[in-house]
Amino acid sequence: MYSDKVMEHFQNPRNVGDIEDADGVGTVGNPVCGDLMTIYIKVKDDVIEDIKFKTFGCGAAIATSSMVTEMAMGKTLEEALAITRDDVADELEGLPPVKMHCSNLAADALHAAIDNYRENKTKIKDICSACEEE
Ligand code: FES
Repeated sequence: MYSDKVMEHFQNPRNVGDIEDADGVGTVGNPVCGDLMTIYIKVKDDVIEDIKFKTFGCGAAIATSSMVTEMAMGKTLEEALAITRDDVADELEGLPPVKMHCSNLAADALHAAIDNYRENKTKIKDICSACEEE
């Protein structure tokens, strides 16, 4: 049912955990299966220099989380945003059709973490420019 790559990432997931002082955090859930995924990123000069995940979910959700962190590590934010749900599934040499939604969570959580990073950056910029105006 699962490719060797899915099994390998499920049994030895990469980048598990959280980043205490993360620059961006994205959490997404699937209301149907109840699975939950959080991705933490550390960003320097627009490059993802560290990334970790915590997933409460099925084996495919864990494998896709692990894979998306490997795919995004060292990438620029633009490159990471271009990683699609299908890219994650393809990198894992496919997922059973009934498990394709699991790869959606991984790509969506990554994108949510990047959005969160950008929002935080804008807020900080707004606060700083408010100080400068005083
Ligand atoms: Fe829901 Fe896998 S069954 S993410």
